[in-house]
Amino acid sequence: MDLTYSDDYWDNPESKRAFLDFLIRIHNLDLSLWDRMGYWDNKYRPFSFFDGNTVVASTCLYSMDMTIRGERRLVAQISSVGTLPGYRRRGLNLELTRKALKWAEATHDFFFLFADEEALEFYKRCGFRRTFEHKTRLHILGRTARAGAAKMDVQKKEHLDLIYRCASEREPVCDMLGVYNERLLMFWCLYFLTDNISYIADLDLLILYERKDGIVTVFDIVGKKLPPFSEVYSYIGSAEDTAVEFMFMPDKLGLQESEQVLLEIDNGTHLLGDFPFEGSKFILPYTAHA
Ligand SMILES: CC(C)(COP(=O)(O)OP(=O)(O)OC[C@H]1O[C@@H](n2cnc3c(N)ncnc32)[C@H](O)[C@@H]1OP(=O)(O)O)[C@@H](O)C(=O)NCCC(=O)NCCS
Repeated sequence: MDLTYSDDYWDNPESKRAFLDFLIRIHNLDLSLWDRMGYWDNKYRPFSFFDGNTVVASTCLYSMDMTIRGERRLVAQISSVGTLPGYRRRGLNLELTRKALKWAEATHDFFFLFADEEALEFYKRCGFRRTFEHKTRLHILGRTARAGAAKMDVQKKEHLDLIYRCASEREPVCDMLGVYNERLLMFWCLYFLTDNISYIADLDLLILYERKDGIVTVFDIVGKKLPPFSEVYSYIGSAEDTAVEFMFMPDKLGLQESEQVLLEIDNGTHLLGDFPFEGSKFILPYTAHA
């Protein structure tokens, strides 16, 4: 097999196009919108094998700026992993993963990733260990919202600019295990949380959430300064609400009497290296998934 290895090639348009095509084939995900809108992030670094002009095996390492127990740290997420069917079980992705880990090990505190069921054996072989995440649930007495929350429309340039401004100026939503990466947040806003973004002008913050059967799931709260959650909730509440669930560790939100419950939908979370919350209940922020 005559394959070429390449990494860190985003400045080569042909190779980047080949990667985008690869990701559509392997994960049915088209990142060209994220690219076109100007939010592409060079902290997302590819390690790939090419057969001619085609990417046939690839892994990416996303350098994440996180706050861990109040301190700013650099950690790394493995993402966008795949090998085209005709090239599997030849050791290609194992080799790429080793190269990526070697590149990052001296500068990143630990590694994490979210695995599909079919890749569990592969990540075990790469040395990752399996773990399980817990969200925080707060039981509440629902109440009707006061005016002041405006739903964002990502088709509108001014709304996108507002979202990006909030993302760029944000303080992490939690001190324990929070994330900064504003370009990654834009990915979530453009692709999967498009209908879930509200801006509260009085507080100059965004809340990304959904409501289902009286349960409000909060994916992220994005602002320069975070008020207690009771204040945020007063803008989005509904009389039918019975609980709020947080997809990040809400240590800064002044919650009382909350409980931590196992995620019903397992993220296939894996860790490598010295993870500071090993053995305790934690969650990696939802909008930190790459
Ligand atoms: C998972 C995947 C990336 C593995 O890529 P690959 O290049 O075939 O992996 P490698 O050949 O380097 O495998 C290394 C080792 O991992 C393990 N492994 C890999 N694929 C495996 C599988 N399907 N079942 C069991 N073990 C597997 C084996 O121990 C293998 O060594 P061996 O072939 O000597 O037994 C590839 O199967 C794939 O793209 N799957 C579909 C997309 C996907 O699941 N991506 C990950 C999303 S999180």
